[in-house]
Amino acid sequence: MSLSADKFTSADAALLAPKGCTPMSSTLLQSFPRSVLPPGIASPSTKYWNLSVVCKQAPISTAKEAPSKKDVENGRLHGLSLREYREVVGLDVAERESTVSITVFGASGDLAKKKIFPILFALYYEGCLPKHFTIFGYARSKMTDSELRTLVGNTLTCRIDKRENCSEKMEQFLERCFYHCGQYDSEQNLAELDKKLKEHEAGRSANRLFYLSIPPNIFIDVVKSASKSASSKNGWTRVIVEKPFGRDSESSAALTRGLKQYLQEDQIFRIDHYLAKELVENLSILRFSNLVFEPLWSRQYIRNVQLIFSEDFGTEGRGGYFDNYGIIRDIMQNHLLQILAIFAMETPVSLDAEDIKNEKVKVLRSMKPLQLENVVIGQYKSHTKAGVSYPGYTDDNTVPECSLTPTFAAAALFIDNARWDGVPFLMKAGKALHTKRVTNELVIRVQPDEAIYLKVNNKIPGLEMRLDRSNLNLLYASRYSKEIPDAYERLLLDAIEGERRLFIRSDELDAAWKLFTPLLKEMEEKKITPELYPYGSRGPVGAHYLAAKYNIRWGDLSASEESSLKPFLP
Ligand code: BG6
Repeated sequence: MSLSADKFTSADAALLAPKGCTPMSSTLLQSFPRSVLPPGIASPSTKYWNLSVVCKQAPISTAKEAPSKKDVENGRLHGLSLREYREVVGLDVAERESTVSITVFGASGDLAKKKIFPILFALYYEGCLPKHFTIFGYARSKMTDSELRTLVGNTLTCRIDKRENCSEKMEQFLERCFYHCGQYDSEQNLAELDKKLKEHEAGRSANRLFYLSIPPNIFIDVVKSASKSASSKNGWTRVIVEKPFGRDSESSAALTRGLKQYLQEDQIFRIDHYLAKELVENLSILRFSNLVFEPLWSRQYIRNVQLIFSEDFGTEGRGGYFDNYGIIRDIMQNHLLQILAIFAMETPVSLDAEDIKNEKVKVLRSMKPLQLENVVIGQYKSHTKAGVSYPGYTDDNTVPECSLTPTFAAAALFIDNARWDGVPFLMKAGKALHTKRVTNELVIRVQPDEAIYLKVNNKIPGLEMRLDRSNLNLLYASRYSKEIPDAYERLLLDAIEGERRLFIRSDELDAAWKLFTPLLKEMEEKKITPELYPYGSRGPVGAHYLAAKYNIRWGDLSASEESSLKPFLP
């Protein structure tokens, strides 16, 4: 049986239908990745987005229907994710046959300790990792396996912490973690790793995932040595890379060229972790699965779109990295622009990875060049509040005293297509701001307190005709008792499963840099000085002028702030 997102036959439907239930094969189901479908509900039509219901999928558990080893060897299940494969065959054929080795380069670094190992543990705890897996930490510092386990064990705090049997599970997890010390550019050291990996893989089909949790200037060294000495000979080899993917169009293209000397595009998994946030993931579902929204999604009904990122802490401890990038490269060019692209793209042919990316690229390419006069930048300065003093950006020892790096930016962007012509897309991103409050019309709050709400006008009950504004509210915490997994959990799992929907393709990356590179260059050449704003404030006043230019108020102002800012507001 072959079952994949793009080939779903009536024979497949018959196999998946529970006993006694007439199988229904919906063509609507064809192009949607299984992972986006709630059980028992077919995805909406790509054209009309209406819902149809199919019989609930039942796991098939008879050995008779399981594919033979020969099927697997002949690649008949090629294209199925591990989860799908397990679902279809209903036994651990897949697991008996293959193993996944995850190597974390930069294992002693902060990201590995704080994020990657805890996330891997959470996935293990939840039973999401394959039966046969091994995790290797790789770094230059000398360490034994048991030292790595202690290091990982001591920092292994994650959402699973308080769960049942957590420490027991953690012990089991740590037993699967190993360490290899080596140089990042040494083919010989990578060949030694390869030998160790082979011992653990024990002759199974070996899939290898390399997570580059290292500075970008050594990405290519590692990829070169790993591809020559440690790539899998009888399974897949995939590489996860984290931003920054360059500083501008040229450096990003050079990085891509370098990686592609040793890897195919489909082996490269570029992470933008905002894409895996629950509410960002939900954006396409919200828009395309609710008939009420799609007709409104255009210049006819939307006056402006605001994308607001705000953190109430500064760059403490990350000044060295941040000063070389600034808020536009750190947040706008990737996280906010990605959300904008998903929000504004045309209806994709399907929700498959490549179809979505095609639409995202189109919308990114339709963006008008970003003008300097449509951008405001700021930098936070020290501030004392209630006897507590907060440091300014340049008080950080790793930041040059006269740094012009922006820690805040606001921009007005425009999309040159029929759907969005003339609609301002306002972006605002800042560090060391007051906490966020969002109050515009349709709010998709990514974090914290994940929520979707829509402001509606309604009549106050009673005999008189008095109007009020209320929220139609989907507050995730009240609706779902289930914890929302960390974005990295989904990303790591997707990389293991080969699901590319939430990763950035190289042409998307090019288009994103193309939009911001000329602006960044102009700002740097002209040495534009950022407007200073006090730590913990709302950011520079210039941002309000920018919004006012388009007759817009930022949606994150409270009533009292609005009145104090009256002189600047439309
Ligand atoms: C990172 C940025 O990509 O995202 C950081 O480099 C920022 O500066 C972080 O703090 C925010 O991510 P999250 O998931 O904490 O909102």
